[in-house]
Amino acid sequence: MKAQRSPSPAKISLRDAREADFETLYAIDQACYSTAVAYTREELRWYMSLRGAECLVAEAETGAKNSRARIAGFIVSVRRNARGHIVTIDVLETYRRAGVGSALLRRAEERMEQRGVSEVWLETATNNEPAIAFWKKHGYGSHGRLPSYYPDGLDALAMSKRLVNRAGAEN
Ligand SMILES: CC(C)(COP(=O)(O)OP(=O)(O)OC[C@H]1O[C@@H](n2cnc3c(N)ncnc32)[C@H](O)[C@@H]1OP(=O)(O)O)[C@@H](O)C(=O)NCCC(=O)NCCS
Repeated sequence: MKAQRSPSPAKISLRDAREADFETLYAIDQACYSTAVAYTREELRWYMSLRGAECLVAEAETGAKNSRARIAGFIVSVRRNARGHIVTIDVLETYRRAGVGSALLRRAEERMEQRGVSEVWLETATNNEPAIAFWKKHGYGSHGRLPSYYPDGLDALAMSKRLVNRAGAEN
């Protein structure tokens, strides 16, 4: 049986991350991963400051009068010439299965493609079934295991997708 979708937030909008978002993004990353796998502040800052790095955030309007939009998730990507890498994609649990991750990924892929990237790579834990389903849904194929890739000793799957000829892609 298909899992029940979460109620969609009133409205999701995407924008570039700002310096003032950093602590919120760090807290979201801590909430999305186990302590062993979540980034330290220094690691997250380091990835976000790499040459070719971009960070997009998804904001959910709460719908309530005078209340501020809340960051529901974010994605960090890095590009080196024709090759892109998804460093992390994090959606807060209450906003999952409502298309937030897909919106972030599509925008990040569009940006990378506009900047000359033709292939995107990522790693995901072999026991992270939701993430593997998410990547497959978006056309990423597996290239085998990376043994003990994570600090807690878990293996990763290396996955990739070609961005060229997107008309034929699934998403
Ligand atoms: C993986 C993640 C980013 C997905 O974000 P999301 O906003 O829930 O994703 P979407 O709503 O856009 O889902 C798109 C599709 O992915 C697949 N998918 C997503 N979550 C799934 C789950 N828990 N189980 C099965 N399939 C899932 C489905 O095919 C889904 O489409 P559907 O809802 O129409 O069936 C989110 O679960 C997350 O942040 N997890 C914690 C951090 C993480 O593991 N990141 C990835 C590390 S590589």
